Amino acid sequence: MDDQRVSILERIGLEKPLVQAGMGGVSRHLLAAAVSEAGGLGTIAVPGAAAIASELAAARSMTSKPVAVNLLLPFARRSWFEAAAAADVVVTFWGTPKRRVPGIWLHQCGSVDEAHAARAAGADGVIVQGVEAGGHVRGTEPALELLERVKAALPDYPMFLAGGIATRTDVENAVASGADAAVAGTRFLLSDECVAHPEYKQRLLSANSTILTELFGFGWPAPHRVVANEATASQAGPSGEIPFINKLINRASAAGARFTPESVQRRAVAHQSPTSRMLTPHAPSEDLPRRFVEAGPLYAGETVARIDKLLSAEKIVTSLVG
Ligand SMILES: Cc1cc2nc3c(=O)[nH]c(=O)nc-3n(C[C@H](O)[C@H](O)[C@H](O)COP(=O)(O)O)c2cc1C
Repeated sequence: MDDQRVSILERIGLEKPLVQAGMGGVSRHLLAAAVSEAGGLGTIAVPGAAAIASELAAARSMTSKPVAVNLLLPFARRSWFEAAAAADVVVTFWGTPKRRVPGIWLHQCGSVDEAHAARAAGADGVIVQGVEAGGHVRGTEPALELLERVKAALPDYPMFLAGGIATRTDVENAVASGADAAVAGTRFLLSDECVAHPEYKQRLLSANSTILTELFGFGWPAPHRVVANEATASQAGPSGEIPFINKLINRASAAGARFTPESVQRRAVAHQSPTSRMLTPHAPSEDLPRRFVEAGPLYAGETVARIDKLLSAEKIVTSLVG
């Protein structure tokens, strides 16, 4: 814990108090490298040890600055951690925190209890996630409120804030409230370098609201924030509630998802339709057919209402932290 006298940003080698959130399947080397090169911390989030290694190598060929890898605990296997250990920072999410890599490790958490657990497990810091965040949502209260409570419970512990970050003022508020850095996902999804499907980006640019639901929970029954599409219109209620049968199917699928080969998962994704009861959590990436934008989760945070332009990752970093 001696290292804590050196700030977490210095330990990482981070120039600016800004992190691009790992976004499963859509934050790959192009985005991560561009963010890191601009002075923020770029994060790669892809499933599979080989993909992690090749994305990290590709990012390294584009920048010599620090790069992070994000791993989802319900799915990550030992080989994924081994590949991720080559990154400058490993970020984990969703599950019991446990140290699995020797280097700098951050755990994204949604409660004071979870922050305590991360610290007890030896995490170098936490990302405090608020309920307004996009993607899977661990937090149940606004990010700044949770930050205040985590800060009070663990005053000297490094902590970043995720949720609600779209402008320079948002970053300044986060830092003024005691965050070492701000974490933005949706803002970086709406960048040229993000490999989300172009139609997915367009939907977000014109969206004014989001839904918190468990609809896309096949293999991972957990709350997530999305923008409406045909799937939510046909199966989710106005506040995101889903039919009991979907809940049952999602719950029953959870145990097998970790052991389902990537190839089988990709086939399930290719056949997904808006009325299917088995809606997987795969985000619509640019390599999926356009119709998947109606059948897959259009993950986005509440900031989507305040973002109306696609920008380069470099411009986003500049607009957020100068
Ligand atoms: C498209 C998308 C995918 C996400 N995937 C992941 C993920 O794979 N792992 C993770 O730790 N967090 C994931 N998140 C959540 C982010 O880490 C972060 O909490 C969130 O983006 C912050 O809210 P914001 O999007 O409003 O900035 C995702 C968020 C989005 C928008």
